[in-house]
Amino acid sequence: TVYKNSKAASLAVAARIATLIKEKQEKGEQAVLGLATGATPVQVYAELVRLHREEGLSFQNVTTFNLDEYYPMQPDSAQSYVTFMNKNLFDHIDIKRENINIPDGTLDLSDIPTYCMEYERKISELGGLDFQLLGIGRTGHIGFNEPGSAPNSGTRLVTLDDLTRRDASRDFGGKENVPTKAITMGIGTIFKAREIILMAWSPVKAEIVKKAVEGEMSSDVPATFLQLSDNVEFVLDEGAASEL
Ligand code: GLP
Repeated sequence: TVYKNSKAASLAVAARIATLIKEKQEKGEQAVLGLATGATPVQVYAELVRLHREEGLSFQNVTTFNLDEYYPMQPDSAQSYVTFMNKNLFDHIDIKRENINIPDGTLDLSDIPTYCMEYERKISELGGLDFQLLGIGRTGHIGFNEPGSAPNSGTRLVTLDDLTRRDASRDFGGKENVPTKAITMGIGTIFKAREIILMAWSPVKAEIVKKAVEGEMSSDVPATFLQLSDNVEFVLDEGAASEL
């Protein structure tokens, strides 16, 4: 779906999430949401905050799983995805803190495999993700599933691509300060979500969006694996759609 601009697109995506939360509330059920970081979803989160403040949208029945976190990363660091999520969403809504899940960037290396299996188990135990929000990196990554990621990959420790680290360098004051690794949900984990929305804005993303939507499916561009799923919608602004 192509919208005139990212604002209009973000309002539509936030409305979709709000509807899902309310439908679940009416049934007395939890809404299980997979969330993304980066500049792309910021306006969606701002609209969800507005819906909470001005229209009483409650997040009491919402459980969230974030896609990824840098490794190593302290949660209170300015660049952590914990800080990002708190600042953009969680500090401004009534979600229960115990229902928030973000991969832990402070673990010992040897504890990561067990932790990742537990992350997957938690999602399954809640009946799986009702909804997954995605951005896309210029390498074609979703979450931090960089080129080379397998379509059935699970939550795991990965090495970041050089281009991804360059793109993150502004936040870290130089590429040398960007962690070389991250913990990310796998492509297989993302795939199990019942509804997936990938958002991309501006001509900067046009080339990778074209590859993801129209390119040959390959682990060289992990987002091409989304072509396999019937539950995926690309939500774009005119700039990001300009090469399609
Ligand atoms: C980051 C995140 C991804 C995100 C991507 C795009 O590396 N791990 O989940 O989709 O980069 O970021 P942005 O939305 O800032 O363009």
